[in-house]
Amino acid sequence: SGYITIDSGYKNTGATKSAITFLDGEKGILHYRGYSIEDLAEKATFLEVAYLLIYGDLPTAEQYSKFENAIRRHTIVNEDMRKIFEGFPVNAHPMGTLSSLISAMSAFYPESYDDKGPDQTDLHIIRLLAKLPTIATWSYKKSQGHPVNYPQNQLDYCSNFLHMMFALPVEKYEVDPVVSSALNKLLILHADHEQNCSTSTVRLVGSSHANLFSSISAGIGALWGPLHGGANQEVIEMLEAIKADGGDVGKYVEMAKNAKTTGFRLFGFGHRVYKNFDPRAKIIKKAAYDVLEKLGVNDPVLEIAKGLEEAALNDEYFIARKLYPNVDFYSGIIYRALGIPTNMFTVMFAMGRLPGWIAQWKEMRTQKEPIGRPRQIYTGSTLRPFVPIEQR
Ligand code: CMC
Repeated sequence: SGYITIDSGYKNTGATKSAITFLDGEKGILHYRGYSIEDLAEKATFLEVAYLLIYGDLPTAEQYSKFENAIRRHTIVNEDMRKIFEGFPVNAHPMGTLSSLISAMSAFYPESYDDKGPDQTDLHIIRLLAKLPTIATWSYKKSQGHPVNYPQNQLDYCSNFLHMMFALPVEKYEVDPVVSSALNKLLILHADHEQNCSTSTVRLVGSSHANLFSSISAGIGALWGPLHGGANQEVIEMLEAIKADGGDVGKYVEMAKNAKTTGFRLFGFGHRVYKNFDPRAKIIKKAAYDVLEKLGVNDPVLEIAKGLEEAALNDEYFIARKLYPNVDFYSGIIYRALGIPTNMFTVMFAMGRLPGWIAQWKEMRTQKEPIGRPRQIYTGSTLRPFVPIEQR
């Protein structure tokens, strides 16, 4: 009833009140539950941040060990899930595989269909946090023609993931602490970002009281798009293309300035809400230099990225539109240095964003939000009589 205002892309529409993440796009501020992203990325573990987002406060030592142990106990994935996985083609995109298998979890845990209260939800939360990394590593193992690795539950969350990714049955694999701490930082920086596209998807799907697994699976689908999380894969592909093309960054800046005709955008640039800088990008850029130095990796693509950033930041097109590097611009360079293949970058984003999606889903249900159901303004035909097929 009344007037309907169209706000394409919800640029000015608030969908909810939320106590999880605070963001000031003008000042470049990002807080999770009142803690600055800078502080958390430096000092916390990813699971502490997950607990913080989902339950509202940093865990005490006792709460933390209970939470971490519960996750350790659930890292194994049902062997029948692996049979489903085996049916996927070897070149399947890991994001397609991930969203399908997370969706399949609702079939493996049918009790998730009906709401039996917080204890049951907590178990599903633990299952998701525990199993998503295991499932993620399967895609990589398959692409290499290697057997999957079972979780090593004595390891911490990040080390366990790295072990499942990179250990081979034929030799001993030691997790490099530089690698696991870089991974920890990246996951924290991706852990939540208020009402972004995938999170809004999770909340919207969940608003019909669909189960947690289905809601998260839908969020993974939304994240995959190149305008959202898929941008991290696009960035590295773009930087490699620039390198292969002789490294002339100016040429690509020109192309991006004419995005309307060329259809080419600088991936990893621009953001719906950050109009001065993306605080995550600032931390990640510094981390990229640190990690490459510590690991002794010399990646020429880093120099291309730096050159491209400089060229764009000094260009009036980018200045006028307040386009800055976003979280995805430098993250791929770190992932690469850690040995993660390009087609897994968005999966890494999903692993990081999972606690945020869960926290937002839970908040939406706890606040008893109504089903999400936007309106429209109809622009189609007025009433037409039906014409039988043979007379059309
Ligand atoms: N390269 C060239 N021009 C751009 C870019 C870009 N990356 N981003 C925006 N513009 C231009 C756009 O053409 C428009 O110009 P004009 O005013 O002349 O019409 C203006 O800047 C505003 O852009 P918009 O598309 O209206 O802005 P939006 O808020 O709808 O889109 C965005 C935000 C992130 C989707 C967009 O900046 C973009 O496509 N960036 C590249 C993809 C990317 O890096 N995505 C990752 C986002 S951050 C993390 C995440 O969500 O995963």
